[in-house]
Amino acid sequence: MRRRANAIFRKIAFADGFVYAALCVAAALHAQASDPAWLRYAPVRNHTNIPSHAHALGSNTLEQTAVRELEQVLPLLSGGVSPSNEEAVVGTTSEVRKTFPGISIPKEIGKEGYWLDRTTRHGRSIIIVAGADERGVLYGAFDLLRRIATDQDISHLSAIEQPAMNIRWVDEWDNANGTVERGYGGRSIFFDNGKVRDDLTQTGDYARLLASVGINGCNVNNVNGAAPFLDPQMLRGLARVANAMRPWGVRLAISVDIASPQKIGGLKTFDPLDPQVKAWWAAKVDEIYTLIPDLAGFTVKADSEGQAGPASYGRSPADAANLLANALAPHGGVVLYRAFVYNNHLDSSDLKADRARAAYDIFHRLDGKFASNVIVQIKEGPIDFQAQESVSPLFAGLRRTSQAMELQITQEYLGQQRHLVYIAPMWKSVLDFDLHANDRSTPVKQIITGKSFHRPLGGMVGVADVGRDWLGAPLAMANLYAFGRLAWNPDLTAEAVAQEWTHQSISNDPQVVATVDKMLMQSWPAYVDYTGFLGTQTLTDITGSHYGPNIESSERNGWGQWHRDDAHGIGMDRTVATGTGFIGQYPSSVAKIYESLSTCPDNLLLFFHHVPWTYKLHSGKTVIQYTYDSHYQGADEAAQLGTEWATLKPKIDANLYEDERARLEYQAGHAIEWRDAIVQYFLKESGIPDARGRAGHYSGRMEAEDARLSGYAVIDVQPWEDASSGKAVTCAEKSCTAEWTYAGQPRGFNIAVQYFDLAGGTAHFTLSVNGNVVAAWAADATLPSRRPNGDNSTRYTARNVNLNPGDVLRVESTPDASDPAALDYIEIDAK
Ligand code: GCU
Repeated sequence: MRRRANAIFRKIAFADGFVYAALCVAAALHAQASDPAWLRYAPVRNHTNIPSHAHALGSNTLEQTAVRELEQVLPLLSGGVSPSNEEAVVGTTSEVRKTFPGISIPKEIGKEGYWLDRTTRHGRSIIIVAGADERGVLYGAFDLLRRIATDQDISHLSAIEQPAMNIRWVDEWDNANGTVERGYGGRSIFFDNGKVRDDLTQTGDYARLLASVGINGCNVNNVNGAAPFLDPQMLRGLARVANAMRPWGVRLAISVDIASPQKIGGLKTFDPLDPQVKAWWAAKVDEIYTLIPDLAGFTVKADSEGQAGPASYGRSPADAANLLANALAPHGGVVLYRAFVYNNHLDSSDLKADRARAAYDIFHRLDGKFASNVIVQIKEGPIDFQAQESVSPLFAGLRRTSQAMELQITQEYLGQQRHLVYIAPMWKSVLDFDLHANDRSTPVKQIITGKSFHRPLGGMVGVADVGRDWLGAPLAMANLYAFGRLAWNPDLTAEAVAQEWTHQSISNDPQVVATVDKMLMQSWPAYVDYTGFLGTQTLTDITGSHYGPNIESSERNGWGQWHRDDAHGIGMDRTVATGTGFIGQYPSSVAKIYESLSTCPDNLLLFFHHVPWTYKLHSGKTVIQYTYDSHYQGADEAAQLGTEWATLKPKIDANLYEDERARLEYQAGHAIEWRDAIVQYFLKESGIPDARGRAGHYSGRMEAEDARLSGYAVIDVQPWEDASSGKAVTCAEKSCTAEWTYAGQPRGFNIAVQYFDLAGGTAHFTLSVNGNVVAAWAADATLPSRRPNGDNSTRYTARNVNLNPGDVLRVESTPDASDPAALDYIEIDAK
């Protein structure tokens, strides 16, 4: 699927690029070589008041970028025919004051902020973009363009904007060899073959996208295995990356390995308190700043998932963070020290052991011990970017330490960009969550700005992991866009941001905007419904792909993502009274709500409590019935996304339409796979039937293992829940067939074929009725896992096939290389 969809996506990029290139020639534009994403700047409907030209009052780099962007884009927005002879004037507030002494500029514009104003000078209407500083000028220019591109009325303009927080970074987990950890959009835009790429055009294009939504830092390398990035030759390459991003006000940051003095520096130790180690870092940092004078700082993952750390010497994260902070301080750099520190060899038989406790247990006691240029970077939830978990209590646990919230833009646990999941509603639920520290209102969004506890620094860091196809799916770009907009202003609503994005990326047509907005807003709740339930987290393959269903993979191992289910019940007891005590890490008024079953919200019930299958939710439903219902509902919701998209066919770009249609069809099929895996697993586990009779009864389904087989052999699928009834068939011959005889009424049907599309070969399938082929397709996707399982279980649906009693349905397959054309079942009367 991914390969096919990406191929389609490449076509879109080309088609758009073609139109874009033509306009570029017309307007002598800056050409963004890669897909322009939300910066495609299609002509808007209302052309009046669009300035026809722009000029900068100052000569600094960012002002020049701002004016170039305006000059190049304004003609695009007005379709090349601007009726106005208006001008946009850009400059810093002091430049504007000097040039227009009569204008009164609001005093309260904060750092990186700006003022947009329409005024009249010498009888002419002008738009002033006055930035508090250079970055403010650039952000103001992009805001003006956004207002025009989203059809806002700019005939009266007077707005002050400033970012809510000073750290607004994206992290990229790129490796020097050009791969991207948890990246689903192709190879690295920065690195190849152990070094920085010669051509960094796409890095500049990326920085432009980031700047357009106010992102001011980009950490370019993986938090794992970072030592080689401090090598002198690599640093020279990184200086080129910094140069490519600088015109857009995006500062480079790098992940460092705390063991570097030993790994690449030739020292015998990396003890953070050792004088030689301190001297090594000071010299290394000086070397870096001679090459990259505006380096934003370092990101550190230490004592976590195999990365070395200060614990090796009995030192604390504060010792390690301060070591780096002291070296960076003279140069104005900061340290983002990640609180993602936990023991991944926990004893699962210990009912008091709890990975969720780790960050708070380790960092809370260090509050106040970090240098002023250290920011503790905290994942939004206490576990790991799950589809649903509680908010990290550490946000309220650090009062004398600057903090940033880390979230994932790349959809590691959220369908890896093969599923449409707009994550902004989830981020909003975290940002708006009130932790009630000190019994006063302290929503997370206020804590991370630094306001709640009067900290100088704070922010949001989004793990983006873009590649050469950006995020690998056009609609997934809404997440990158939303991250930037929420880091600028966490009070924006997820809906408003979705609308802005759709206007700019797809169309200004009101029906398109309304429909895409609805789809985006439905997508995360749908994903939660078909993947996990009531706070169990994503029930995926935790030790492998993090993609398809694999329920037991999170149990009975050291990783600590347990949900502890058995025949009697399910859930992690994290209460203070009888469980791990995790709930006690929250401020008391929040802890009180979670501790009691009577007040704990249903959506986090199993994150905090262990309850019997028959436990009744606030809604009155039992846990087991909710499990069935939510998964049937989730699969229906996923299918609904495709139905909604279909209504847009006449209104949007044909290539984009087809690309997303194919993706949504795949998603609907994979949602059914998820639904069935979870439903049949917990039906067997609990032994309690579905009150609505669906679980375990699939009308119209005919299993491959029950078919008349030729060449095909029956296998047990691992994990068993990933195949209907636990079994499938694979083909080790040149070709194989499976046949069933239809015994129902004469009628037209949709017939679904559920097969396993393995990487490493392109198997071919045909579906025929009485020897007449009704569908033929290739299994050419690149999905995770080398064995048939829920990672690669895929659905093909042949529509409107007429069947009569006695008809012979046959699937014929040709395996290829390591793809054995594995088949699970066919289903007559599929939706
Ligand atoms: C997740 C992810 C890893 C990553 C880690 C981190 O566990 O699967 O690939 O290294 O988070 O945030 O450091």
